Amino acid sequence: MSQPPQFDPLRCEKMYRDEQSANGLPAAMPSDIGGPQQFFKQLDALGNAYRYPAQFDPLRYEKMYRDEQSANGLAAATPWDIGGPQQFVKQLVALGAIKGEVLDPGTGPGHHAIYYASKGYSATGIDSSPAAIERAKENARRARVSVNFEVGDAIKLEGLENRFDTVVDCAFYHVFSDVPEAKKAYARALHRATKPGARLYMFEFAHYSVNGIVAPRSVSLDDFIHMFPDAGWQLTYLGPTTCQVNMSMESFDMLIARNPDKAEQIRPSVEGFRLIEPWLTNGRAYAPFWEMHATRVDCSETKTLRSRSAPGAARSTR
Ligand SMILES: C[S@@+](CC[C@H](N)C(=O)[O-])C[C@H]1O[C@@H](n2cnc3c(N)ncnc32)[C@H](O)[C@@H]1O
Repeated sequence: MSQPPQFDPLRCEKMYRDEQSANGLPAAMPSDIGGPQQFFKQLDALGNAYRYPAQFDPLRYEKMYRDEQSANGLAAATPWDIGGPQQFVKQLVALGAIKGEVLDPGTGPGHHAIYYASKGYSATGIDSSPAAIERAKENARRARVSVNFEVGDAIKLEGLENRFDTVVDCAFYHVFSDVPEAKKAYARALHRATKPGARLYMFEFAHYSVNGIVAPRSVSLDDFIHMFPDAGWQLTYLGPTTCQVNMSMESFDMLIARNPDKAEQIRPSVEGFRLIEPWLTNGRAYAPFWEMHATRVDCSETKTLRSRSAPGAARSTR
């Protein structure tokens, strides 16, 4: 049986040596556009421009969860609430990555904890906003599953020592993007709250653009590399992904009204959204995210692991 063409060891060599041209560039290499792709230029141009300090108004999230305006049939002030779990959470479950007792820190509307419970896992969701926990409990009641939802500070995770086998943080850590003390405390609290060998999966806002949408606050890849090995986590995967958000022009108006000092940073996303909105289903846009996987290790091992978790290694292993 002949091998499929992609396994011809000379395939790429032949394409590079082909001398035919199309529009002044090698015809056999359509990916060679004579310069960098637009997204690389955007990455470069954006740099850290869209990062800004986390707001510590303790009522900030409470007000957002209590806001009654809607967008596309869902709460407009909480665009991360897409009425169900994110695709990457479903993938983790499908791939068998979730084990034992699961923690969903900053659970918000609780869709992820509810999804784990619906698949037979014992799930705990923690949020500092009582209104979020009310919404999560109502969602669990509708889904007819039992989840341990608690109002609490997920940065500290007090009273939960040695409890969890898996933690999946969806869009919680980036809330503290510019507060290193909070991020450090959280990485250590996660270590305390988990069992030896526990797995940690994180999905957080990144600073690049997806279809013109940029995150109002974000973390860098280096952030994970610096924060987690020191707290007893060995990074096993780090790379880009996307997260769905429920957006509308009204949601953007609300976002700007809540963050008047950030209006100029948010405006390019409004323009990006205006262009792509006609193609979206129910206002679901994709936002730029990082995905990080890590394994809990004993503190005595972390010195060695810090060097093993160097950027190159961390970014290339899954
Ligand atoms: C961007 S939302 C993400 C919600 C949810 N994980 C999701 O993906 O739908 C961040 C959540 O973190 C919660 N939060 C903020 N600070 C917190 C803290 N110190 N402890 C627990 N939850 C917190 C907010 O109330 C909000 O629900």
